[in-house]
Amino acid sequence: MKQIAPSILSADFAHLGRDIEMINQSDADLFHVDVMDGIFVPNISFGFPIMEPLHRLATKPLDVHLMIVHPEKYVERFCDAGAWSVGFHLEAVDDPMPVLELIRHKGVRTCLTINPDIDVHRLDPYLGEVDMVLLMSVFAGFGGQKFIPESIDKIRYVRQQIDSHGLNTLIEVDGGVTVDNAAMIFDAGADVLVAGSAVFHAANPAEAIRQMKQ
Ligand code: DX5
Ligand code: ZN
Repeated sequence: MKQIAPSILSADFAHLGRDIEMINQSDADLFHVDVMDGIFVPNISFGFPIMEPLHRLATKPLDVHLMIVHPEKYVERFCDAGAWSVGFHLEAVDDPMPVLELIRHKGVRTCLTINPDIDVHRLDPYLGEVDMVLLMSVFAGFGGQKFIPESIDKIRYVRQQIDSHGLNTLIEVDGGVTVDNAAMIFDAGADVLVAGSAVFHAANPAEAIRQMKQ
């Protein structure tokens, strides 16, 4: 099943309610929520104050992507703030297992993510432990970057691992997704595509989402 998760990072924050309603009305499946701390990534986005209106107004699940150091300090608060899934970076922790357990204990879906410079094989031991893996197809930190073509082979590899072990772990891909490359990324084995600028900067965002799902 092809799913699209528009990244609220590219929304117009002066009209956040309007943009949330636009996604509610669209064929999108999830709201992707990019949280950056200025330390794990060289950019700062937003946190709990934006979770509040999202939780109140969004009629689709909130897929939280934490780009922060020490995710163990905050994952439970994001669960309490209404997250449907909480993801953090493998390279931000020594051992992801206790952090995954904090999320699971809240009854929230778990997601483990890696930047493009992290060996994709490092995800292998966790594919059966998480609900979703998020493969970054740009370096985390900014919207509007170009899709890194080498990501396709990593998606194929993880797809093959998941299928050969009979798992139903979802593969999410984040960064540089456009109307033009969405089909190729789905074909490589992705289940969920995050799209920020390709949705919110489109002349017709709902139509862009529809086209990505075709
Ligand atoms: C990047 C974020 C992405 C970003 C995607 O650090 O994790 O979710 O918003 O933006 P686009 O789709 O514009 O590459
Ligand atoms: Zn993201």
